Amino acid sequence: MRRNAEHKVWTENKAQLIARYLRYFVFITKHGAYIDGFAAPKEPDKPDSWAASLVVDSEPKFLRQFFWCELDPERAKYLEELKARQPEIRPKRHISVHIGDFNTEVEKVLASGFITDKTATFCLLDQFACECEWKTLVRLATHKNSGSNKIELFYFLGVGWLNRTLQAFTRNDHIPEAWWGRSDWRELAKLGPTKLSMRFEDRFRTDLGYRHVYSYPIFEREQGGRQMFTMIHASDHQEAPKLMQRAYRGIMKPLEPEEQLEMELGQLDWN
Ligand SMILES: C[S@@+](CC[C@H](N)C(=O)[O-])C[C@H]1O[C@@H](n2cnc3c(N)ncnc32)[C@H](O)[C@@H]1O
Repeated sequence: MRRNAEHKVWTENKAQLIARYLRYFVFITKHGAYIDGFAAPKEPDKPDSWAASLVVDSEPKFLRQFFWCELDPERAKYLEELKARQPEIRPKRHISVHIGDFNTEVEKVLASGFITDKTATFCLLDQFACECEWKTLVRLATHKNSGSNKIELFYFLGVGWLNRTLQAFTRNDHIPEAWWGRSDWRELAKLGPTKLSMRFEDRFRTDLGYRHVYSYPIFEREQGGRQMFTMIHASDHQEAPKLMQRAYRGIMKPLEPEEQLEMELGQLDWN
């Protein structure tokens, strides 16, 4: 897929990218579940940069189930507040806040019964560095029966500082091993951003079995435009990469009217 080399999405636009993609997504699915494994706001004083909030507020309100997880109980209060201020709508939405480690809470989310083979589901994995364990990705990717579109993943990979982070793991090396799911994680510290992204993309395709896997680089304005991280999007649906590409390219443009999206996307089939 061709990308415009001049076009940059900045760190402060990441949440808008997610919300915009999901806005396109629901015009096809007309329903859906949103899982956010690392959900509390990174910068609580900047509500426009908080993915969980932008997604739940996004119109039209076609997403039906929300699962927000946060390890730190102090930060989870933002999620409880967000849940409490949601308006009553019909059909009723299900919102659950999980306080705990997403690597274990994921079991409760998947056991809830809300995510069936037919439920279009998007899972944001917006970790700081190495908190999301590989077994969690496997768990999400294998939840549905084969033949159904897997739970989509949008995975944060901190390529801009990962080599330093990995080199600093001298004692707690069970953390990077659980994150990468293999003992050869030290090899990753030698790779630059592009090769790192490609290693992950390869494993999302070959080990997790996703049909469409693409990375979306995100840059930091204050760091002279340096790439800080990449978001890896993994989906089985052929339309999904087109929608993410559209959201990424159009991030600075006004949102398209609902009538236009209904005309363009409303006839596409999700299953
Ligand atoms: C990068 S922030 C998330 C930012 C958020 N997505 C936003 O849009 O602003 C990562 C969050 O994950 C939480 N966290 C760290 N380890 C976790 C774990 N094992 N399970 C769940 N949450 C975790 C942190 O406390 C932090 O609030």
